[in-house]
Amino acid sequence: MPFNAKEREFIACLWGKASGQVEALGAETLNRLFKSCPSTKTYFSKFNLEAGSADLKTQGSKILNAIGLASHHLDDLDHALDHLSDLHAFHLRVDPGNFDLLCHNVLVVLAIHFPGDFTPAAHAAFDKFLAAVSVTLCSKYR
Ligand code: HEM
Repeated sequence: MPFNAKEREFIACLWGKASGQVEALGAETLNRLFKSCPSTKTYFSKFNLEAGSADLKTQGSKILNAIGLASHHLDDLDHALDHLSDLHAFHLRVDPGNFDLLCHNVLVVLAIHFPGDFTPAAHAAFDKFLAAVSVTLCSKYR
């Protein structure tokens, strides 16, 4: 589903706020994911999953930077995320149900850190964006 001008503005605004803090926000997102949905930990058996660990910071940064990249390619997510779609579907074989869980935790972290910007309309726009990222990352499963 295409994004309208207002949605693009909200997505750019929230990513603009988050982009300077990807390590901290990414680590917090993963910590919340693993605490609230413990089954997701199975994919990261080699990681140190303690809150604030170097592994959470590194992986959290990678995830948020990929979301940032996607935010600059709203009209071409398939192409922008092609490598990641292959990785998650064919190599990591992440169950598609896990993407919604991660996206939910990204939203929670954005809401906590940027309450002034996280209006209902901005929430809806970023949720739509993350859902589109998830659909793209799951597109190779079929
Ligand atoms: C918005 C959704 C997601 C994004 C944007 C994303 C992004 C990424 C990125 C950028 C990497 C690193 C790729 C590389 O090194 O080339 C990665 C790796 C990985 N992702 Fe995801 N991911 C997402 C969802 C998930 C979910 C839901 C899971 C499982 C619960 C997952 C499990 C993994 C694992 C296991 C790795 C490899 C980690 C390692 O051993 O280094 N990802 N992901």
